[in-house]
Amino acid sequence: MGSKNKLKRFNENETFANVFQPSRDELVTNQFHLKGQWNKIFFKNENPLVLELGCGKGEYSVALAKKYPNRNFIGVDIKGARFWRGAKTALEENLPNVGFLRTQIELIDHAFANKEVDEIWITFPDPQIKYKRTKHRMTNSEFLERYKTILKPEGVVNLKTDSEFMHGYTLGLLHGAGHEVLYANHNVYKQEGSPEEVTSIQTFYESQYLEQNKPITYIRFKIK
Ligand SMILES: C[S@@+](CC[C@H](N)C(=O)[O-])C[C@H]1O[C@@H](n2cnc3c(N)ncnc32)[C@H](O)[C@@H]1O
Repeated sequence: MGSKNKLKRFNENETFANVFQPSRDELVTNQFHLKGQWNKIFFKNENPLVLELGCGKGEYSVALAKKYPNRNFIGVDIKGARFWRGAKTALEENLPNVGFLRTQIELIDHAFANKEVDEIWITFPDPQIKYKRTKHRMTNSEFLERYKTILKPEGVVNLKTDSEFMHGYTLGLLHGAGHEVLYANHNVYKQEGSPEEVTSIQTFYESQYLEQNKPITYIRFKIK
């Protein structure tokens, strides 16, 4: 995407009522007004709150919002020019139950209060295969601790990835730490039993992997 186009999207994001872009300072000093109040202030209902982390263009957030009008969705990504797509679609289609948050996932527990969230989707995260990149892997134990803080006790996490490495790494870590794997599938379009929302929605990255005939994997788990 050209820099002119990016700038246009950044400017438009500023005007979108469904986009939130708190500064790092605002978050770490606990001054972000929506923390603990997403449902009360933004969604104006008490429906379950679902996050999509590393949402890219926000395909899951938007598709799930259409499918489940009685649940609230927030796509989270550091790249505003990407989720501009999802935010614009949500506005054009008058979807009141989806919003977008521009922040680093490392700060997620500053953007949501303890036990504010019911469910998390992690869709096609960068696998960060190199050992030195372990700390950036979105299912490492530090990230799981952050997710645990913001999730309700019965809250679940969904991981959908094309990366066999990420799938295996996450399963190993979950088993090793005694977390509860509710469901795992290493080839969701070939092996029967995947939940409908796993096979009926494709993200931007996923479509490219499917063209290359890469198996898509899925894990649903609870953090103990
Ligand atoms: C491989 S893309 C997948 C995007 C989308 N889920 C999809 O499947 O098309 C990974 C996304 O995660 C975002 N991301 C990676 N690390 C992040 C971090 N630490 N905080 C926020 N976003 C992050 C990137 O900006 C990118 O949009």
